[in-house]
Amino acid sequence: MSILPASLPQTSEEAFAYIGTIGTPTVDDFKLMICLEASGLSFYNALAAGAPSKEIADLLAANGREEMAHAKRLQKAIQLMTGEMFEIPSPQTNPYDTAPASLPVDEALLDNMAKGEFGGELMYEGWAQKMTDAEVAKLLRQNGKEERRHGERAEQAKALLTA
Ligand SMILES: [Fe+2]
Ligand SMILES: [Fe+2]
Repeated sequence: MSILPASLPQTSEEAFAYIGTIGTPTVDDFKLMICLEASGLSFYNALAAGAPSKEIADLLAANGREEMAHAKRLQKAIQLMTGEMFEIPSPQTNPYDTAPASLPVDEALLDNMAKGEFGGELMYEGWAQKMTDAEVAKLLRQNGKEERRHGERAEQAKALLTA
Protein backbone atom coordinates (compact mmCIF):
# COMPACT_ATOMS: atom_id res chain seq x y z
CA MET A 1 0.00 0.00 0.00
CA SER A 2 1.26 3.44 -0.83
CA ILE A 3 2.18 5.86 1.93
CA LEU A 4 0.44 8.56 -0.12
CA PRO A 5 -3.31 9.23 0.03
CA ALA A 6 -5.00 7.41 -2.89
CA SER A 7 -6.25 10.72 -4.35
CA LEU A 8 -2.66 11.83 -5.09
CA PRO A 9 -0.54 10.86 -8.11
CA GLN A 10 1.25 7.57 -7.52
CA THR A 11 4.11 8.04 -10.00
CA SER A 12 6.75 10.79 -10.09
CA GLU A 13 5.84 11.76 -13.69
CA GLU A 14 2.23 12.38 -12.66
CA ALA A 15 3.39 14.11 -9.48
CA PHE A 16 5.59 16.58 -11.38
CA ALA A 17 2.70 17.38 -13.74
CA TYR A 18 0.34 17.74 -10.79
CA ILE A 19 2.43 20.15 -8.68
CA GLY A 20 2.34 22.71 -11.49
CA THR A 21 -1.44 22.89 -11.10
CA ILE A 22 -1.52 23.57 -7.35
CA GLY A 23 -2.51 27.08 -6.32
CA THR A 24 -2.74 26.76 -2.56
CA PRO A 25 -1.16 23.53 -1.35
CA THR A 26 -2.95 21.28 1.14
CA VAL A 27 -1.27 19.12 3.76
CA ASP A 28 -1.64 16.17 1.36
CA ASP A 29 0.16 18.19 -1.29
CA PHE A 30 3.02 18.72 1.15
CA LYS A 31 3.13 14.95 1.70
CA LEU A 32 3.43 14.48 -2.03
CA MET A 33 6.24 17.08 -2.10
CA ILE A 34 8.06 15.30 0.74
CA CYS A 35 8.10 12.14 -1.39
CA LEU A 36 9.25 14.04 -4.49
CA GLU A 37 11.96 15.94 -2.60
CA ALA A 38 13.20 12.78 -0.87
CA SER A 39 13.37 10.99 -4.24
CA GLY A 40 15.56 13.89 -5.42
CA LEU A 41 18.37 12.66 -3.18
CA SER A 42 18.46 9.27 -4.97
CA PHE A 43 18.12 10.93 -8.37
CA TYR A 44 21.03 13.31 -7.77
CA ASN A 45 23.15 10.56 -6.23
CA ALA A 46 22.57 8.45 -9.36
CA LEU A 47 23.70 11.38 -11.52
CA ALA A 48 26.71 11.99 -9.27
CA ALA A 49 27.62 8.32 -9.74
CA GLY A 50 27.35 8.72 -13.52
CA ALA A 51 29.10 12.11 -13.73
CA PRO A 52 32.25 12.30 -15.86
CA SER A 53 34.28 14.25 -13.27
CA LYS A 54 34.46 14.69 -9.52
CA GLU A 55 33.70 18.41 -9.83
CA ILE A 56 30.43 17.71 -11.64
CA ALA A 57 29.60 14.87 -9.26
CA ASP A 58 30.13 17.18 -6.26
CA LEU A 59 27.73 19.79 -7.64
CA LEU A 60 25.02 17.18 -8.23
CA ALA A 61 25.53 15.49 -4.85
CA ALA A 62 25.19 18.89 -3.12
CA ASN A 63 21.82 19.38 -4.81
CA GLY A 64 20.75 15.93 -3.66
CA ARG A 65 21.60 16.59 -0.02
CA GLU A 66 19.54 19.77 -0.11
CA GLU A 67 16.53 17.98 -1.65
CA MET A 68 16.41 15.84 1.48
CA ALA A 69 16.66 19.02 3.58
CA HIS A 70 13.63 20.31 1.63
CA ALA A 71 11.69 17.18 2.59
CA LYS A 72 12.59 17.85 6.23
CA ARG A 73 11.38 21.47 6.03
CA LEU A 74 8.08 20.27 4.57
CA GLN A 75 7.81 17.74 7.36
CA LYS A 76 8.26 20.62 9.80
CA ALA A 77 5.63 22.64 7.91
CA ILE A 78 3.06 19.84 8.29
CA GLN A 79 3.92 19.58 11.97
CA LEU A 80 3.33 23.30 12.42
CA MET A 81 0.03 23.14 10.52
CA THR A 82 -1.50 19.98 12.01
CA GLY A 83 0.81 18.54 14.65
CA GLU A 84 1.27 15.42 12.51
CA MET A 85 4.79 14.04 12.08
CA PHE A 86 4.71 12.65 8.53
CA GLU A 87 7.56 10.20 8.15
CA ILE A 88 9.99 10.85 5.30
CA PRO A 89 9.91 7.67 3.19
CA SER A 90 12.98 5.54 2.57
CA PRO A 91 13.98 4.88 -1.06
CA GLN A 92 12.26 1.47 -0.66
CA THR A 93 8.93 2.86 0.53
CA ASN A 94 8.89 6.04 -1.59
CA PRO A 95 6.61 5.55 -4.63
CA TYR A 96 8.50 8.28 -6.53
CA ASP A 97 11.98 6.88 -5.90
CA THR A 98 12.78 4.89 -9.01
CA ALA A 99 16.35 6.05 -9.70
CA PRO A 100 18.85 3.38 -10.73
CA ALA A 101 22.30 3.29 -9.05
CA SER A 102 23.81 5.40 -11.80
CA LEU A 103 22.56 7.73 -14.54
CA PRO A 104 24.47 9.36 -17.39
CA VAL A 105 24.87 13.16 -17.29
CA ASP A 106 24.47 15.08 -20.53
CA GLU A 107 23.83 18.65 -21.63
CA ALA A 108 20.12 18.19 -22.36
CA LEU A 109 19.53 16.70 -18.94
CA LEU A 110 21.36 19.57 -17.23
CA ASP A 111 19.34 22.12 -19.23
CA ASN A 112 16.10 20.45 -18.18
CA MET A 113 17.30 20.25 -14.62
CA ALA A 114 18.12 23.97 -14.51
CA LYS A 115 14.67 24.81 -15.90
CA GLY A 116 12.94 22.54 -13.41
CA GLU A 117 14.91 23.91 -10.47
CA PHE A 118 14.29 27.56 -11.40
CA GLY A 119 10.62 26.63 -11.75
CA GLY A 120 10.80 25.12 -8.28
CA GLU A 121 11.87 28.46 -6.84
CA LEU A 122 8.81 30.14 -8.35
CA MET A 123 6.54 27.36 -7.15
CA TYR A 124 7.72 27.59 -3.54
CA GLU A 125 7.56 31.40 -3.59
CA GLY A 126 3.98 31.24 -4.89
CA TRP A 127 3.06 28.74 -2.19
CA ALA A 128 4.74 30.84 0.50
CA GLN A 129 2.54 33.78 -0.44
CA LYS A 130 -0.58 31.67 0.16
CA MET A 131 0.39 30.58 3.66
CA THR A 132 -1.24 32.11 6.72
CA ASP A 133 1.47 30.78 9.08
CA ALA A 134 4.58 32.97 8.74
CA GLU A 135 6.90 30.20 9.89
CA VAL A 136 5.54 27.80 7.27
CA ALA A 137 5.97 30.51 4.62
CA LYS A 138 9.58 30.98 5.71
CA LEU A 139 10.31 27.26 5.35
CA LEU A 140 8.85 27.25 1.83
CA ARG A 141 10.85 30.34 0.85
CA GLN A 142 14.06 28.74 2.09
CA ASN A 143 13.35 25.72 -0.11
CA GLY A 144 12.70 28.07 -3.02
CA LYS A 145 15.99 29.91 -2.58
CA GLU A 146 17.83 26.63 -2.59
CA GLU A 147 16.02 25.47 -5.76
CA ARG A 148 17.49 28.53 -7.44
CA ARG A 149 20.93 27.48 -6.23
CA HIS A 150 20.27 24.01 -7.67
CA GLY A 151 19.52 25.56 -11.03
CA GLU A 152 22.77 27.53 -10.82
CA ARG A 153 24.70 24.38 -9.96
CA ALA A 154 23.13 22.64 -12.98
CA GLU A 155 24.40 25.51 -15.14
CA GLN A 156 27.86 25.24 -13.57
CA ALA A 157 27.85 21.50 -14.23
CA LYS A 158 26.90 22.14 -17.85
CA ALA A 159 29.73 24.66 -18.22
CA LEU A 160 32.18 22.07 -16.86
CA LEU A 161 30.75 19.37 -19.14
CA THR A 162 31.10 21.47 -22.27
CA ALA A 163 34.42 23.16 -21.40
FE1 LIG B 1 13.86 20.60 -3.54
FE1 LIG C 1 16.17 21.21 -6.28
